[in-house]
Amino acid sequence: METTQAAPIKYDMDVVRWFSIAAVIYFVVGTLIGVWIAAELAWPALNFIPEIAFGRLRPLHTNAVIFAFGGCTLMATGFYIVQRTGSTRLWSNGLAWFTFWGWNLIIVLAVITLPLGITQSKEYAELEWPIDILIAVVWLAFGLNYIMTIAIRKTSHIYVSNWFFMGMIVMITYLHVVNSLALPVSLTKSYSIFSGVQDAMIQWWWGHNAVGFYLTAGFLGIMYYFVPKQANRPVFSYRLSVLHFWTLMFGYVWLGAHHLQYTALPDWTGSLGAAISLAMIIPSWGGAMNGMMTLSGAWDRLRTDYILRFLVVALAFYAMSTFEGPVMSIKTVNALSHYTDWTIGHVHSGALGWVAMVSIGALYHLVKKLWNTEMYSDSLVNVHFWLSTIGTVVYIVAMWVSGIMQGLMWRDYDEYGTLTYTFVESVSAMHPYYAMRTIGGIIFNLGAWIMLYNVVMTVRQAGATRLAKAVTAQA
Ligand code: HEM
Ligand code: HEM
Repeated sequence: METTQAAPIKYDMDVVRWFSIAAVIYFVVGTLIGVWIAAELAWPALNFIPEIAFGRLRPLHTNAVIFAFGGCTLMATGFYIVQRTGSTRLWSNGLAWFTFWGWNLIIVLAVITLPLGITQSKEYAELEWPIDILIAVVWLAFGLNYIMTIAIRKTSHIYVSNWFFMGMIVMITYLHVVNSLALPVSLTKSYSIFSGVQDAMIQWWWGHNAVGFYLTAGFLGIMYYFVPKQANRPVFSYRLSVLHFWTLMFGYVWLGAHHLQYTALPDWTGSLGAAISLAMIIPSWGGAMNGMMTLSGAWDRLRTDYILRFLVVALAFYAMSTFEGPVMSIKTVNALSHYTDWTIGHVHSGALGWVAMVSIGALYHLVKKLWNTEMYSDSLVNVHFWLSTIGTVVYIVAMWVSGIMQGLMWRDYDEYGTLTYTFVESVSAMHPYYAMRTIGGIIFNLGAWIMLYNVVMTVRQAGATRLAKAVTAQA
């Protein structure tokens, strides 16, 4: 009998390579700005000129880590996953390059405008209206290309990661457009069309869903592809992953009000936000368990596979932060945690522990596949793993202690019914913890530099091997 071998599929991987390298660079820069602003809070003398003061650099940090690092990671992995799971090239390679340059242009514009103080003052939506329009155009180009690539896939099935990516694309499109609706008064100044409590509600409807659909759904798409690939095992329960997807999509949109407990918003909206937040523990933990159980029978690999370690620790932090978040949404807990560093601790257990760790694991996996080589140094991947884990733990422990202390100091009364501590006393009590957070950040950022070095050396090593092969073939 004659066997025919199918022609190998050609994929559009150059754009994926560029997005991956950009993600690693932005990871170094974004976390470095994080270290700087952490130091500014510990040693206020560092705020010596307005352009680098905390108020201006804080949004630069959040934009750099969420949209530059997170965005490039999502686009690299998204364009990779959609091609590999559909056995097809991208619908439009040209549009993918437009997305690459457009997204990087937005990042450059953020780097220029935010330190100059040009901002809409809406958290995670600070960029002014012309940049917002550009974001919508580039995001739609990414989304259209993604969905059309699924439409032209050669496989009958749409793998679950693609559902998570499509969920993110659709939801972020309308969240971004509605929250950014504004009346421009000049090229660099606009006013939101919403006002008062409606403005706050729309802002946190966006804010929480930026967490839910961008920092969670998108990165779950990454998890569902890269954990089984790196563990070399099928996903534990495909049915559970589909259930995870639909419950997440229907649940997350209702949570925004938990950011606005005890405000001018009607009380029932906060209660609804808290109730659905609590319910979200179930799908979140179901998803985390699904990822963990994918390793059943392969746990021994963790001893030698450092990339897998990143992915597993990310899942542990995903489980932890999706337990902590619902607890913080309960009104009585929020009365203590809101406005304190506890929120910052929660954010970074999600951001460093979950988002960054799962991204790092996926990026190392990608680099090896895209350049068809082993890592320049596996030991450095291991060193990076420990620096990331220790840095994250130091950071969040510092914030938990300072946050709970802050909350307790602010509500403490003496026997005459007056406040025991002045606000300034609570600020100076934070100093050791802010210094500790800075140290945690430095440890974490050091890991990012090591990753950059290792990735650059891996790419150079792959280039040298290819050149040597070409020379041997010619000789
Ligand atoms: C070396 C690592 C990092 C350090 C030292 C750091 C430090 C900081 C600091 C000092 C703040 C301001 C806190 C405040 O206002 O009291 C902050 C805010 C924030 N960071 Fe980071 N960060 C790091 C990495 C990251 C990463 C990787 C992400 C996301 C993937 C992230 C996401 C955020 C977010 C969303 C906020 C705003 C939190 C809020 O408003 O509640 N950070 N970070
Ligand atoms: C079921 C899952 C989750 C729930 C119910 C939840 C709930 C909460 C609550 C109640 C707050 C505090 C609101 C306040 O007092 O102002 C909060 C803040 C926050 N959470 Fe979560 N969380 C969840 C998962 C996550 C994950 C996985 C991440 C990160 C990737 C994350 C990132 C954030 C951020 C960035 C903030 C700060 C927003 C701000 O004030 O700027 N959350 N979350």
